[in-house]
Amino acid sequence: MEKLAIACDHGGYDLKNAIKLHFADKVEFIDLGTNSTDSVDYPEYGQAMAKAIIAGDAERGILICGTGIGISIAANRSPQVRAALCTDVTMARLTRAHNDANVLALGARIIGEQVAFDIIKAFLTTKYEGGRHDLRVKQLGKGII
Ligand code: RB5
Repeated sequence: MEKLAIACDHGGYDLKNAIKLHFADKVEFIDLGTNSTDSVDYPEYGQAMAKAIIAGDAERGILICGTGIGISIAANRSPQVRAALCTDVTMARLTRAHNDANVLALGARIIGEQVAFDIIKAFLTTKYEGGRHDLRVKQLGKGII
């Protein structure tokens, strides 16, 4: 069973619970919070994801905030994180195939539950293509070049 870190702010809390329930028999989730709809600051949860990836607690993760934007910006401050904000299945497929994205970001106020499930399925099942993409992905890991 794949281990996935998952984190959200208050805007993503309900969708996070729905995702955990929907994928319960396929994924072991490491839940990094938040644990209620009380208002919190999304940078804390984006950074918690980055720390979990760097520590090797999970190879991949899912982030959720209202738009998916703030929390993905926060996680992407770390060069080891390649967080991709996806609003459809094609984006999820291509960011795995071309960017080797290791974190999927979702906007709970932007997409519906079923779309989120379909995006996650594509993210989990699509393999990185390597080849011509390798140099570019390595460049991302170097930060500013
Ligand atoms: C919280 O209100 C909201 O700003 C946050 O969830 C996210 O959309 C930020 O990018």
